[in-house]
Amino acid sequence: MLWRDLQRYLPIIGDIHVKTPSAYKATREATEAINAMQMTIAETYISGLEVPDSVLQLLFDTCMPVLFQHFPALLAPYEWVLQETEAVAEGPQDLMKTQYNLPQGMLNRMLGDGKLIYPKYSMGLWEKGAANLEQSQIQMIDDLIEKLEIQDGDDILDFGCGWGCVPNYIMSKFPNVTFTGLNLSHEQCEYMRQKMGDPLSYLSSGRFTLVEGDLNNAQFEKKFDKIISVGVFCHVGNLTNAFKKLAGFLMPAGKFFVHIITVRTPNNISSVYTHKYIFPHGRYWNFDAIPNHNKDLKTVKRWYLNGRNYSKTFDNWLKNFDESFDSLENLDYGLDAAKFRRVWRFYLIWFVANFASCDGQINGNGQFLLVHDN
Ligand SMILES: C[S@@+](CC[C@H](N)C(=O)[O-])C[C@H]1O[C@@H](n2cnc3c(N)ncnc32)[C@H](O)[C@@H]1O
Repeated sequence: MLWRDLQRYLPIIGDIHVKTPSAYKATREATEAINAMQMTIAETYISGLEVPDSVLQLLFDTCMPVLFQHFPALLAPYEWVLQETEAVAEGPQDLMKTQYNLPQGMLNRMLGDGKLIYPKYSMGLWEKGAANLEQSQIQMIDDLIEKLEIQDGDDILDFGCGWGCVPNYIMSKFPNVTFTGLNLSHEQCEYMRQKMGDPLSYLSSGRFTLVEGDLNNAQFEKKFDKIISVGVFCHVGNLTNAFKKLAGFLMPAGKFFVHIITVRTPNNISSVYTHKYIFPHGRYWNFDAIPNHNKDLKTVKRWYLNGRNYSKTFDNWLKNFDESFDSLENLDYGLDAAKFRRVWRFYLIWFVANFASCDGQINGNGQFLLVHDN
């Protein structure tokens, strides 16, 4: 009997999509037990148990490779993680409150806030020899410019533009590029509004239009030459509907570049911890998910970026967080600052380990170049 046939009958191991109904049910029950265990460990830590970082690291370094390689179904904590859900983006207000509208003093310090490279909450590219976080982010945007073949004069939409880092950098390189940035986070939009009034910022060049709004309701009067979306599709629950919407914003010969966290496991993954404390409704799509939802746009090229690039980026964010948090304790995090610090340290230490596991080969980032399907 071939391994793929055998997997159908065995609970827990391997590809959940091929399982018989009883093996599927048993796998979901085992996942509930793993969810409960994960929450107990995490919440014991965040409620104050003193554990050296090295012990947490050892725990993650030991468990994650085993889960990624042999038990990926246990990394899908809810049924909805395994499939598309109703809305283009699920629960955006929850997400803004828990994550993107947190005190910007903390986020900006953690992510790095330079003269040209504004806070960028996505993978930096280290494998070409970047010496620091800022250089890694520059090299990542240079790589995007090359892959998307950005031309001077392009009119570009940045779908989920963060603090405007990618538009600011690209406009510094191309004097005739224009950008529209869409973002639901009011706090991040306030950051960009301030830059739009700062003569030293390319966001003030008259070539940047800011739209504060939700991906779910986005509408534009015009079509764009290029669309960029970096680090946003982990918040998209329905790829088919998202591509349908985005196809309507793209010129007939236009190109769309998606950059996401991805996993080379048979199923999408998430975690009870990140859903509750960090990224509500967030999920990490399997590497084939985007090419497999090609009704309105088709994938013409794709790249897998080794997770070690993201592990190192998270490691830098962890250091910045640790160095700055004492001076930022008085900001309003919506919960006790000491507890907040532990919630975030658990997340950051875990993600450093996640992306380094299996030598970065399973949990990394994916880039996809899409065009109209005609
Ligand atoms: C991980 S950050 C990436 C930001 C930016 N692209 C970068 O690379 O720094 C995700 C961004 O998507 C935005 N976002 C998430 N859900 C959204 C939604 N439903 N509508 C609009 N923006 C959303 C967030 O506010 C945040 O700016």
